[in-house]
Parts: sequence; C-alpha cells; structure tokens
Amino acid sequence: MNKHSLQQYSATAKLLHWIIGVTIITLICVGIYMANIDFDGNGGVRSQLYGLHKSTGIVVLGLMVCRVLWRTFTTYPASNAAHKKWEIVLSKIVHGILYIMAFSMPLSGWAMSSSYGSTVSVYGLFTLPPLVKEDPPMGETWALIHEFGGYALIAVIVIHAAGALKHHIIDRDDTLRRMLPFSR
Ligand code: HEM
Repeated sequence: MNKHSLQQYSATAKLLHWIIGVTIITLICVGIYMANIDFDGNGGVRSQLYGLHKSTGIVVLGLMVCRVLWRTFTTYPASNAAHKKWEIVLSKIVHGILYIMAFSMPLSGWAMSSSYGSTVSVYGLFTLPPLVKEDPPMGETWALIHEFGGYALIAVIVIHAAGALKHHIIDRDDTLRRMLPFSR
C-alpha cells in the first residue's frame, strides 16, 4: 500500500496522538502550578507533584519515540486534496514544531534536574542516569529553556487546535474527524 493512501489515521496513531496531547497539556498545567506554589506551606504536595511531573514527562519522551517509529514505518493519510498550498505548508511547520517541542521539553527538564544534582526517578520504579553533568548555574539556563518552552508550547498547541477546528467548523472537511478516536 502507498505510504499516504489511507483515509483515516490508524488506531495506534490516534491513540498515541490523544494520549500524548492530553498528557502534555496536563504536564504544562501541573508544571506551572507546582513551580509557583509556596514551598513552606505545601512542601509535601509540591515534592510529590515534582516526582509525578518528572516521571510522566519521561513517559511522554518514551511515547514520542514510539510515535516517530510508528510514523516512519507505517502508512498514514495524505493531506486533504482540497487544502490550499499555504494551509499544507503551515500545518507541516506547526507539526514539525510540535514534534521538536515534545522531545525538547522532557529533555530540557531532565537536563535541568541533572544540572541541579536532582535524580530523575520514574514513579520510583527505576532511576535514570544524569543527562548532563552537575552544574547548578547551567541548571538556571535549562530552567529558563523549560519555562519559556512551556509557554511557547501553549501557543503552538492553540494554533494547532485552531487549525483543526477551522477545517471542521468552517470548511466542514474531514481533517479533524479522521483523527477522532471513534470515527470511521
Ligand atoms: C512533555 C514533557 C514536559 C512538559 C510539557 C513540561 C512542562 C513544564 C512546565 C510548563 C513547567 C512550568 C515552568 C515554570 O513556570 O517555571 C515545568 C516545570 C518543571 N518541570 Fe517540566 N515538563 C515536561 C517534562 C519534564 C521532565 C521530563 C522533567 C524532569 C525529568 C521536568 C522537570 C520540571 C521541573 C523540575 C520543573 C519546575 C521548575 C521550577 O521549579 O522552576 N519536566 N514543566
């Protein structure tokens, strides 16, 4: 079968898309909350949230590796033939940025923790080796990259969702439907 001949995304592609999407949005919300709560008053809650945030962020990194492998070795639908050239170019740029950020957010978080000398345990099951050597001043730089990356990611997700809704509501085409879990 031609790599682009499908009309629908496969069940695995849909599952990975929605699990990763919902998890990343949750990580952004929890990340902003935990980085801004009062340390003294919420010490226990805060460190539990840090542990969950770090573990779940590493799971997203693993899922992204699966997603790239799946996309590389399986068939997926071509762009809708009715879409204009600029829409196709813009959507490819936005998708590219989303892929880059879905990798760079967990990697910058991991690098930040390693720079500060903090371990990265995945739900207490195993501990990852440090990604970079301990260097607290560099940790500040990774923290800035992670923080601004998070805000930039919100903007890119909004653009991505707005594009999908524009095709669904204004153009009334199948762009969103073919990625929805139970559509045929
Ligand atoms: C897709 C994955 C991830 C996303 C979308 C994400 C997003 C965020 C966001 C938006 C913040 C708030 C930044 C701020 O306002 O200062 C944050 C904080 C944080 N993240 Fe992540 N993160 C991810 C993965 C990770 C991973 C894998 C780690 C570590 C292994 C990590 C460690 C941290 C830490 C330590 C903070 C708190 C920084 C501080 O206290 O200033 N994150 N994250």
